[in-house]
Amino acid sequence: MSENIVVVGSTNADMIIQLKKIPKPGETVVGGKFSSAAGGKGANQAVAAARAGSAVTFISRIGNDMFGDTSLKGFVNDGINVSNIIRDSVEASGVAFIFVDENGENSIAVASGANAKMSSNDILNKKDVVVGADILLMQLEIPLEAIETAAQIAFDSTVNIILNPAPAQYLSDELLQKISIITPNETEAKILTGVVINNEADAEKASQILLDKGVKAVIITLGAKGAYVYSSTYKGLVPSCKVKAIDTTAAGDVFNGALAVALSKGKELKDAVIFANAAAALSVTKLGAQPSAPYKEEIYKMLESETENQITENL
Ligand code: RIB
Repeated sequence: MSENIVVVGSTNADMIIQLKKIPKPGETVVGGKFSSAAGGKGANQAVAAARAGSAVTFISRIGNDMFGDTSLKGFVNDGINVSNIIRDSVEASGVAFIFVDENGENSIAVASGANAKMSSNDILNKKDVVVGADILLMQLEIPLEAIETAAQIAFDSTVNIILNPAPAQYLSDELLQKISIITPNETEAKILTGVVINNEADAEKASQILLDKGVKAVIITLGAKGAYVYSSTYKGLVPSCKVKAIDTTAAGDVFNGALAVALSKGKELKDAVIFANAAAALSVTKLGAQPSAPYKEEIYKMLESETENQITENL
């Protein structure tokens, strides 16, 4: 296992309530079921990549508390290199409160804690780690200055960068020009481009706007429909595997982690998206963020059964 994925991002402890429906402002909904799980978009992507089969180094900031200890233990169990995780002696670990409804849809509120303290200096101190990456994978749950510094270092060293722009916010053209692949979902694509995505033509339009800003390739994740890809090697929808969703939390994170693994192993973009779609589909069949990230054997099994289904459907 020589390929090395470096993930820069957040770590959270997720407090989950499964309910019939997600409460609206001012509303109380009873009858929920509580559980907790390891989460955070950065951590979820690091765990997803490690389980999907690559060596992973994670750069993150966690509190010096019980939640930080639990997250760290989980990363070690998954074989992730944790020597660049910073323990913040002042701020608490990040915490997310997640409501999941009966259709598996969610609503998330995050108290960022130590994640919000990740700085440009933190990244400059880890410059060698970023330079040594095959792929740098990032999200937007830590301050933009840290993302921009990591992107600059990676770009200067010709390290490919995958940016999952979640949660979405305005991004400068200067940053976008350094990104090899951007992976928004429909909501994030709308915030970044102004295009409401109802069909493939809309996805193409949104992708074109991002490509015009200098991103090299665009993948818009479309939930159960799959992912729309616009790159120099492939343009079109890559359909997802059909599953019954229990909890869609972290499906995007698992997609990104698995995508990075497939690309680091030299797969073409379309094949990498097929692999990532299978991983994401598996993740929605289980509750919780990191507990739902599949292992590579499960992903291959899913891909095999999909191929068999397609052959049967075509007969
Ligand atoms: O993408 C899902 C993640 O978003 C959760 O694990 C939660 O921690 C929030 O960061």
